[in-house]
Amino acid sequence: MLSALTTRRGVTTGDIKYAGTLDYIHATLFGTEGQSEQTELNNFGFDAVRGATRTYTIKTAASLGKLLLLKVEKDPFFILPENQWYCSKIVVATPEGEAILFPCYRWITRGELVELRGGRAMKVFEEDHPLLTDHRKKELITKKDLYQWAITDEKIPHHIHYTDIAELPAEVQFSLSRLKEMGLIKGLTAVELLFKGMAGSTEQWASFENIKDIFCCQKTPMSEYVAEHWMEDDFFGYQFLNGTNPGQIKRCSELPPNFPVTEDMVKPFLQQGSSLKKEMEKGNIFLCDQKIMDKIPTREYGGTTLQTASGFCLFYMNPENKLMPIAIQLSQQPSAQNPIFLPSDSETDWLLAKIFVKSADTLEYQAVCHLMGTHFLAEVFAVAALRSFPVIHPLYKLLIPHFRYTLHINTLSRTSIFGPEGAFSTSTLGYEGMTELIRRGLSKMTYSSLCLPDNITARGLHLVANYYYRDDGLKLWDTISSFVRKVVEHYYPSDSDVVKDTELQDWINEIFTHGFLANKLAGFPTGFNTVEEVVKFITMLIFNVTAQHAALNNGQFDFLSWMPNGPLLTRKPPPTTKGQSSIQTILETFPNVGETVTSAAVTVVLSEKYSDVVLLGAYTDDLFQESALKQMIKEFQADLLSLTDTIAARNAKLELPYTYLSPTEIENSVTI
Ligand code: FE2
Repeated sequence: MLSALTTRRGVTTGDIKYAGTLDYIHATLFGTEGQSEQTELNNFGFDAVRGATRTYTIKTAASLGKLLLLKVEKDPFFILPENQWYCSKIVVATPEGEAILFPCYRWITRGELVELRGGRAMKVFEEDHPLLTDHRKKELITKKDLYQWAITDEKIPHHIHYTDIAELPAEVQFSLSRLKEMGLIKGLTAVELLFKGMAGSTEQWASFENIKDIFCCQKTPMSEYVAEHWMEDDFFGYQFLNGTNPGQIKRCSELPPNFPVTEDMVKPFLQQGSSLKKEMEKGNIFLCDQKIMDKIPTREYGGTTLQTASGFCLFYMNPENKLMPIAIQLSQQPSAQNPIFLPSDSETDWLLAKIFVKSADTLEYQAVCHLMGTHFLAEVFAVAALRSFPVIHPLYKLLIPHFRYTLHINTLSRTSIFGPEGAFSTSTLGYEGMTELIRRGLSKMTYSSLCLPDNITARGLHLVANYYYRDDGLKLWDTISSFVRKVVEHYYPSDSDVVKDTELQDWINEIFTHGFLANKLAGFPTGFNTVEEVVKFITMLIFNVTAQHAALNNGQFDFLSWMPNGPLLTRKPPPTTKGQSSIQTILETFPNVGETVTSAAVTVVLSEKYSDVVLLGAYTDDLFQESALKQMIKEFQADLLSLTDTIAARNAKLELPYTYLSPTEIENSVTI
């Protein structure tokens, strides 16, 4: 005889703006022993209200057995227009006394088929029911259709095929509140600059002081400091350790043959009685080599072809632990027209040389380190995950919070920032040159360059003083790695579990093919054979889309809203002789007023903190059924909190606090 059973469900609507809906919502449960009727989730009053959890009862004639799937449908409420619903999760309390979590965390539109998997995370080889095996296969077929690879250029990482943010699936789009805030900031900045008569102005800057008018009311302690100290040598050096591009210099134990600095040239800038050779042996000499810019295409401007620096800057870590520039050559080929500039040259010659080094550095920073190294790779990791992992996969649950908003910001930036008409197209390189720079950057990128501990060792920077990016970054790497190890070892007790997870192998293979462009020489994994390899790769991934992006992205307004500190455009060529420059030469070299404010406005939008920010390790979505995972997340959060305190205590003693890698300043994904 069949008995009537009741299954109760707690349905939670997201606590985010516009999450609720008036539409009808229906649910159907599927179990090993049968399925329920399609049931309307309707209590008295409003049901799907922002932030609310409502409980509903479904009656079935008999036990459904083990619950497998939960189907959710949303249908129009009379003739009202589309009203999306953000469903957070559904917790099903079965007659057998189990509470099964069905995470959703996505917007649902009318007519969409949403089938949720509940319970503990499952790898493909653990599936033991034909319905679930079939569902898993179908889910991946649908996802591979929804998230396709597109190629803009054969030599840069592939990306999502959508070209317009409006086409993106709702689950990967910005929230409406983020869209509105970003639009407001853009609009206000544009209006402010228009009112000041700066937007579109072709006037040349009349003095350095006038540049301060751009953001007279919008400042940070650091942006003010930069505007005051940008010309000073020790602050120039400081930025190669703790500025927006902290990964460029290497310890130098031998000069490149095409950078013929002599002992006599630099002797006056070294400790008395010392020599370049001795300081190299002590590990105090560092080099920034801008070879990547050599003969790079540049754009036409006012009837001439622009030029960028592509040379070298030599640094000395002096006894006061200040990193000082001591020699600059502005292109790779030594010649009489390519002199080596020294701190003893005229003030404007030396300043101009430093401006060209910083300009080339800023171009490489934006195109290679920031855009390609964090944004584009994050997108590759995300698209590969969306295509390769079903939502019940443990690594999907671990990684999906680290991909929040990445497809949206990248789709947006491919037009508004990086595209042929975007903000970077007005740089010295233009769109073609920036694309070539990314191609070159990817071709020299290695797996170890993405792994901070290996990167620091390879560059010989493990001992250098006052390198806060390294100090905080390595602590974060260890904290992330320890968390990732617990999670990965929980789901993959042995190497054989790794080897037989075909979805995991598909994921890394997609990344190798579409992100690293099958470059076998650079050490990127093509597959995983051990638990250790998975731990390292996922640590690298989470570090790069959180900490590394924060270190590079969040100081843009601080360091670059003051244009002279890193102009993206230099209108005059690098100097070829000494003793010819003046302040006027520098002002003519800078972008004009309109060009300056366009770049500066971008730094405002990209450094803004938005109200729906999710910080590193917050994991606001309840994705794991397993209590062990909830505990691991708690421990990770406690470790991050303790690191925040350590960094704050260190910063309290510094004239210039380094805050970019404090966990409270790091977002959980690349969203801006
Ligand atoms: Fe960014």
